[in-house]
Amino acid sequence: MTGVNWIGSEVDTMRQLGTMDIATDRLLLRKFRLTDAEQAYENFGKDPLVGRYVSFTPFDTLANSHDAVRHHVWEYDNNPDFYGWAITYGGEVIGSIGLFDIDHESETCEIGYSVGSKWWGHGFATEAAKAVVNFALLRMFAHRVQATYHPENIASKRVLEKIGMKYEGTMRGAQRNPNGTYSDLCMCAILSDD
Ligand SMILES: CC(C)(COP(=O)(O)OP(=O)(O)OC[C@H]1O[C@@H](n2cnc3c(N)ncnc32)[C@H](O)[C@@H]1OP(=O)(O)O)[C@@H](O)C(=O)NCCC(=O)NCCS
Repeated sequence: MTGVNWIGSEVDTMRQLGTMDIATDRLLLRKFRLTDAEQAYENFGKDPLVGRYVSFTPFDTLANSHDAVRHHVWEYDNNPDFYGWAITYGGEVIGSIGLFDIDHESETCEIGYSVGSKWWGHGFATEAAKAVVNFALLRMFAHRVQATYHPENIASKRVLEKIGMKYEGTMRGAQRNPNGTYSDLCMCAILSDD
């Protein structure tokens, strides 16, 4: 995939791979299927702990979960820049992970993820996030993968530290919460040459 820079010559940009299966030691990251909506809602969507530090939880009602899964399936078929995986363990959907804000100009993207609290503390988010960051850096040829987290979201902070991201600063009032308040967000990132 190529693009054109400001003086008009061709430059390399990130590849548009779309959501592809990624197998890790214990997990299969795969495309959502229409039949996943109920399990996604039951296993993490309706989980109040999953929504605690984030602005938006797309699987939070059964109806929203059906909408979210339909949206994923539509994007898989129509958008080569769409990256949204179901995190599956032993054949069960236990969470979701994705890359968004794909920016071909700067060759950057952002990662986000959720795992149902029943499965917390087993290293699953770290395993999934590491695999997706490797996919972005080594297969899409992203230059930078970034992530943000609520300052009190220690679990997410640890996930990002463990996969090699570096803290860069805190953005004041960057997240609008569902109740209308604002929270700071910490920014961290990993570069292809880190
Ligand atoms: C963040 C999240 C994905 C972590 O999932 P996980 O599978 O438990 O993560 P891991 O098992 O890989 O653990 C990562 C680290 O967080 C720690 N951790 C896990 N749950 C924790 C908790 N409730 N409180 C504090 N630390 C916690 C683990 O101990 C581990 O750190 P360690 O290696 O220093 O012991 C999960 O908590 C979640 O889905 N939260 C809600 C959604 C969310 O906040 N997403 C991120 C948005 S930025």
